[in-house]
This record gives sequence, structure tokens and C-alpha cells, in this order.
Amino acid sequence: MIAIDGPAASGKSTVARKLAKRLGFSYVNSGALYRGIAWLTSEHHIRPTDAGAVCGQMRKSVFSFDLKGKEMVFSVNGVNPEPHLRDEEVNRTVSAISAIAEVREFLVAHLRTFLTKDDLVMEGRDIGSIVFPDTPYKFYIDASLEVRAQRRAIQGQRDDLFFRDRADSSRRSSPLTIAEDAHVIDSSTLTIDGVVGEIVGRLKMQGLGEALRLD
Ligand code: CDP
Repeated sequence: MIAIDGPAASGKSTVARKLAKRLGFSYVNSGALYRGIAWLTSEHHIRPTDAGAVCGQMRKSVFSFDLKGKEMVFSVNGVNPEPHLRDEEVNRTVSAISAIAEVREFLVAHLRTFLTKDDLVMEGRDIGSIVFPDTPYKFYIDASLEVRAQRRAIQGQRDDLFFRDRADSSRRSSPLTIAEDAHVIDSSTLTIDGVVGEIVGRLKMQGLGEALRLD
């Protein structure tokens, strides 16, 4: 189980997916689930700050979670929300949704079940600190706000990173923090391959080289 955490647009998704491929592990993007709940909420015109209504809708919805082709797939009430997960409305509301303790408890419980199905590279905000605190393989990928904003702009997305960072770091329920035993990588001046290389180097130092055939 390899945990990768970090702020918005730090490059974690691309790195985590590439790393998972290299190791033959499944890749799980936990943020997609928080985005899925944000999408569900906006579909039902529920205010993201109305925790009671958000949780009420979540409780009566039917979710399915699985790993297919080494990646997580999920549906909500029979719909795959994937095409909507990067909508501007979702970008705007997801931090409020993810601050709701019951939403977190619900999703964290499901995230943990994936480990019974395969070895994982999982990325998010609290994977090393809350979801899998016992894994010795924890990474925190950071980059300057400037570099991250540039990366998001290149993706053509409107996304207020500063607002999301502040909300994600200051919420009461499992805020974005650097786990004490995480290996921190500043990716501001590194390429994706550079970051993956640094992680692989660290995994080798931790004695995984032979087991994972890392050369
Ligand atoms: O990829 P990006 O950094 O834009 O964010 P994401 O990983 O898709 O996560 C979207 C939002 O979900 C974050 O801004 C957090 O509010 C929330 N999130 C969380 O609270 N805990 C996680 N483990 C993952 C995401």
C-alpha cells in the first residue's frame, strides 16, 4: 500500500497512476469519490454547506465501488459520474462536501476495502494520515502555488486552488496535513518521471527493490 498525499494540482494523480503502472498495483484516486458526492449534491440542487441534506441524499443513494483494469470505477444510483467530476461546480463545492465528517467516514470505509482486492497506490489528502496510517510507504507531493496554478491553467480548468487549499487544510475533520513519517517531495522543478524516480528510489531504500523488481 503506497500512500500519496498533497495539495490540489501538485501532480499527484499523474505520478500515482504512473507509479501504479510501474509497480503493477491498482491506482485509486480518492478525490474522485469526494467529487462524486459533490456531483450528486449538485444534481439534487442541495447546498454543499447543508450537511444534513448532503448526508440524507448520500444515505439514500446506491453506490457501487470496484477495481477494473487496475483502476477504481464507481457509480452512484447506476450512473458513472466520471465525465462530470472536473466540472466547475464540482471544483467549487467539493471542499465543503469533503469537510463533512459523515461523508469522510463513509468514503474512508469504502477506500479501505480496496486493499482486500489488490496492492494499491492511493492518492488524496489523508491517505497516509487517516486511511492507511500503518503503511510505511507514504509520500507527500508539494509544489509552489504558482506552479500548481499554471498546471491547472494548462489543463484549461477554472479551479480556485488557493481557496481549496485553505479549506482543505483548515477543516476540522482530517485536514490536509503532512504525515509525520511521510517522505516530502517538492515537485515544482521536477518532471513527472523525476518524481516517480524519486519515489522508486525511496521504495528501494525501504527494501522493496527485489520484491517489486525495481531496477
Ligand atoms: O486533483 P486535485 O488535487 O484537484 O483534487 P482531488 O484529489 O480530485 O480532490 C478534490 C477535493 O476532494 C479536495 O480539494 C479535497 O477537498 C477532497 N479530498 C479529501 O478531502 N480527501 C481526500 N483523500 C481526497 C480529496
